[in-house]
Amino acid sequence: MATNITYHPSPVTPTVRSSLRRQQGLTIWLTGLSASGKSTIAVALEQALLRKPYNLSAYRLDGDNIRFGLNKDLGFSPKDREENIRRIAEVAKLFADSCTIAITSFISPYRADRDLARQLHHAERPGGEPGVPFVEIWIDVPVEVAEKRDPKGLYKKAREGKIPEFTGISAPYEEPLKPEIHIRSDQTSVEDSVKIIVGYLEEKGYLS
Ligand code: PPS
Repeated sequence: MATNITYHPSPVTPTVRSSLRRQQGLTIWLTGLSASGKSTIAVALEQALLRKPYNLSAYRLDGDNIRFGLNKDLGFSPKDREENIRRIAEVAKLFADSCTIAITSFISPYRADRDLARQLHHAERPGGEPGVPFVEIWIDVPVEVAEKRDPKGLYKKAREGKIPEFTGISAPYEEPLKPEIHIRSDQTSVEDSVKIIVGYLEEKGYLS
């Protein structure tokens, strides 16, 4: 725990930055089982936002990828997953602060950890500046469907006992209670999923 530290304020507040950059930052938080389609939807969403007609700045933070670098010291125990999500929430908030649309795709199985990520984004800054929007999206698929898809062979390994604490098999996934968007990925195409998300963001005025 650091001591003797002081927050350094700047005249470039989030509101000032947003109006200069003409883009509002926010975090789009995808949560769901392994093989639910989080990464696939995140990739398509990022492309849609980067391209015409939006031409927005968007950046994707992905579970597997981040675990090669920033979070390579973390495993899959509840404590490590909590720390994984805490760090990602902090990083996503920095991207959102910089007027980028952060798109995260992490299993994020624990409700308390996702709620903490939301609170972190919504918290008022020193000086009374408001926080940034946080959009939780549940990429929902029955575990049997995810297990059938098993693109990385992880469910098979988990069933054979070769991967301990595997989400949906030997570790819990706590379903979101009130996500902003709920997508059944076994009943919705990737293209339609992106349309649903972009439609929501437009309706909220986040893309203009
Ligand atoms: S978490 O729960 O949010 O901390 O997980 P995350 O950082 O998203 O990482 C999930 C990816 O790690 C691989 N993997 C596992 N997932 C779940 N449980 C266990 N035990 C596990 N071990 C490895 C797996 O490839 C996950 O990627 P996705 O894209 O979700 O399939």
